[in-house]
Amino acid sequence: MKENFYLTTPIYYVNDKPHIGHAYTTILGDVLARYNRLLGKSTFFLTGTDEHGQKVEKAAIEHNMTPQEQCDTTVVNFKELWETLDITYDNFIRTTDPNHKKVVCEILQDLFDKQLIYKAEYTGRYCVPCERFFTDKDLVDGLCPECNRETNEIVESNYFFKMSQYQEWLIDYIETHPDFIQPAFRANETLGFLKQPLNDLCISRPKERLSWGIELPFDKEYVCYVWFDALINYISGAGYGSDMEHFNKVWPASYQLIGKDILTTHTVYWTTMLKAMGIEQPKSIYAHGWWLLGESKMSKSLGNVVNPMDLCEEYGVDAFRYFLMSEMTLGNDASFTEENFIIRYNSDLANDLGNLVNRIVKMTLKHFNGVIPKPNALNEDDNEFLDITYSAVCAMQDSIENMKLDKGLNKVMTAIRAGNKYMEKTAPWILAKNKDFERLGTVLHTASEGLRIFSALLLPVMPDKMRELRSTLGYSEENATCADLSKLNKENAICAGMQMKDIVSLFPRILVEKKEIKQQPKKNKKNKKEPVGLIEIDDFFKTKLKTAKVIEAEKVEGADKLLKLQIEIGKEKRQLVAGIASSYTPNEIIGKMVVVVSNLKPATIRGVESQGMLLAAKSGKELKIITIDGDIKSGASVG
Ligand code: MSP
Repeated sequence: MKENFYLTTPIYYVNDKPHIGHAYTTILGDVLARYNRLLGKSTFFLTGTDEHGQKVEKAAIEHNMTPQEQCDTTVVNFKELWETLDITYDNFIRTTDPNHKKVVCEILQDLFDKQLIYKAEYTGRYCVPCERFFTDKDLVDGLCPECNRETNEIVESNYFFKMSQYQEWLIDYIETHPDFIQPAFRANETLGFLKQPLNDLCISRPKERLSWGIELPFDKEYVCYVWFDALINYISGAGYGSDMEHFNKVWPASYQLIGKDILTTHTVYWTTMLKAMGIEQPKSIYAHGWWLLGESKMSKSLGNVVNPMDLCEEYGVDAFRYFLMSEMTLGNDASFTEENFIIRYNSDLANDLGNLVNRIVKMTLKHFNGVIPKPNALNEDDNEFLDITYSAVCAMQDSIENMKLDKGLNKVMTAIRAGNKYMEKTAPWILAKNKDFERLGTVLHTASEGLRIFSALLLPVMPDKMRELRSTLGYSEENATCADLSKLNKENAICAGMQMKDIVSLFPRILVEKKEIKQQPKKNKKNKKEPVGLIEIDDFFKTKLKTAKVIEAEKVEGADKLLKLQIEIGKEKRQLVAGIASSYTPNEIIGKMVVVVSNLKPATIRGVESQGMLLAAKSGKELKIITIDGDIKSGASVG
């Protein structure tokens, strides 16, 4: 029987668009799910959205929508982002799904019948953004201990879950299960929290204060507390209460990924809820750190929230996935800046990996018509490179098992760098010049074996680029998208005789001098509320927009998304490269009057010079160019 691997992400609030933090956890989940699938495990990967509660209700009011409309509109942003990021989830749960609501009601009723839920009067300090109650002694300088904001005193009758009775059990469970809360310092943090007496958990909200939630089955005047409802997604989304066969197959979850801010809700609320329901605990709850923007926390009011869609559009999905996975040491905070992104992209992907691929493919095409040559006896150089390469296989496996993904990727990059050194040392171009085809064959076979291993190890992180590389190496579509990780050894080395294809640069270098690196907004403590991101009218007029007529259009060879256009701006003729080929054929665009940025410095895109930029509107995968309403000559200014 196949081993099971069940993985969850937190479910995201639908009060706002997804940001880099949401993207990170989901990509991490996807990478782990893909690795485990390649290892032959039966994998179930759950993600979704948290749609009830005050945050969502408040956002709905702000947007002049019903809460359900707010959910239905915002969930699309998450689903679109997951599609763009190539996320292979097995189920996407929404807490407004009828099945989830039914399961929550059944659990509430069951716990109520068992007298594990009771009604009482309560006085407490309530934090609206955190949707949590605190006692006076929890507050730090009179403010919410989680978010540092004001809290309100609330006195009301509510329903409570008898969480306090599990305190001793929970302490013991954490102490006797070292892998249960990871990294270990987060287990200590939870144990620290449990040194204080544990209160019962308020699991209801009176409808007059909040109506957007699941009605309590035993009291129609109340809705369920959003966290109690949301945490149940991890079991309802796996079949609990509807498909018990599936649930019993996948539960307990192998990893429940969370951010460090939601540690207590998971390690205390969720675990005691499961205990009360008589359900086994997950094998591990793993809390990762936060992405900071430079050194600041990301926040809407600072205007520094990083939109993952923009980065993917600019630099490609796989590069973005690779950056997030290699830059963050799991458990710790990491810093995002566009500058760091470009530096890592250019050094790891464009220079190290990109160059190695280029050298090997071009030489094999030139000297062996692309047929991977047969190796002869290996010498010390060959063995040294292969040893480093195969050691990256163990390192990667180890890093997945121990949630040290950045370390594994680092080892793969070290082996890739060793590949470039191997090429320099063995100098296949000199072997070719000297017509030593026997040795040249051995070197190119050995180097290609390296590419087989690297492309397999990086496949879960960069699924599209590595598929492209594997298909260049000569693998069928099926083997290009799927690699058997148990065969990454000498015994299963790449077969001589496989037919390589040509490849256009996998990761074109980002030209830094042509790119203005966005500065992080400086922290302005005195005047935090001043709107950020606004520009002066003079800034806008720096961009010269002009009408232009498209005279000719053709596809850019080897680039699915690019069209090369010849345009006319008044009397001037120019060439422009535009990323519109997935939405327009060359014939559809010829003759159109478009709008272009006419004062951009020329750039070379995939080897083709582009003298300007065409404007288009984009939403998810949909793209429409901006055209002119009526007759006007080309070269007219727009603004
Ligand atoms: N809805 C709750 C989770 C319920 S799970 C049963 C929630 N949602 S959230 O949308 O606010 O946050 C979801 C996740 O994003 C959390 O794990 C949180 O830690 C994570 N992140 C939010 N900002 C982040 C960063 N800047 N960096 C990394 N992750 C961060 O909480």
